[in-house]
Amino acid sequence: MAITVKPLDAPLGAEISGFDPRHATPADRKTIFDAWMKYHVLVVHGAVIDDADLVDYSKSFGGIEKARFKSPLTTRDDIMVISNIRQDGKLVGSLPDGEMAFHFDRIHQTTPCRGASLHGIEIPHEGGDTCFANMVLAYDTLSDAMKKRLEGLTALNAFTYGSTQPEMKGDPTKGPHAFHPVVRVIPQTGRKALCVSRLMTERIEGMPEKESRALIDELCDHAEQPRFVYQHKWKVGDIVTWDNRATAHARTDFSDKERRLMKRVTIEDTGP
Ligand code: OGA
Ligand code: MN
Repeated sequence: MAITVKPLDAPLGAEISGFDPRHATPADRKTIFDAWMKYHVLVVHGAVIDDADLVDYSKSFGGIEKARFKSPLTTRDDIMVISNIRQDGKLVGSLPDGEMAFHFDRIHQTTPCRGASLHGIEIPHEGGDTCFANMVLAYDTLSDAMKKRLEGLTALNAFTYGSTQPEMKGDPTKGPHAFHPVVRVIPQTGRKALCVSRLMTERIEGMPEKESRALIDELCDHAEQPRFVYQHKWKVGDIVTWDNRATAHARTDFSDKERRLMKRVTIEDTGP
């Protein structure tokens, strides 16, 4: 079956159909990798796929990282479970609760991941949408003066969400943190992408605190405008794969009375 790539009616994203990880040729994998570079987010609908095939599909985009937490819902160490479900009072996965502000995954590390795939298994009736902001378009549409101002700037990005230690919030350099350029270049395309986020960017280096806060807020307000954002409303079986350099992502709120279960494969910044 031929692979089709259909751009979404949105500021980023394309729907892929006809890709079978069990019979994929190198040319098939190149087709979807190139589409990923162009559209930043790929959506597959109605995939009936096991954990091994989900990992194999994700290998089209780069190397695969091991999950940090082992879930009782999978036997594989490269599947991360994102869920609010509890078994015997214990969470079966990570990121259980409701709304999440815009962020890049692992941006508190020196080499953040290149992307990730999420596969929707159980979806709440309301909410729990995943939103993707096109950070390439967000950069492109900045004024020339702002682009000039951002040249050479670096920001401190820290992992503070999920933290229960108030002292970590006081000094982000006490927890996991990393410095990254405010404008990243995506090696495969040469495109520039804005790299600041509401959740994880703490400050711009070498700038007074007030000015740094104002600049981060201004850039986040710009990037989070609906004209740059695709909001994915999940259906069971969807697989959504995002480029973690070209996009920032967020999650809308959902009720803790409803179950939400996703399987995730993290794509390293290695490979093609
Ligand atoms: C993630 C994440 C969003 C979601 O897996 O990194 O941010 O919709 N997930 O669960
Ligand atoms: Mn995330």
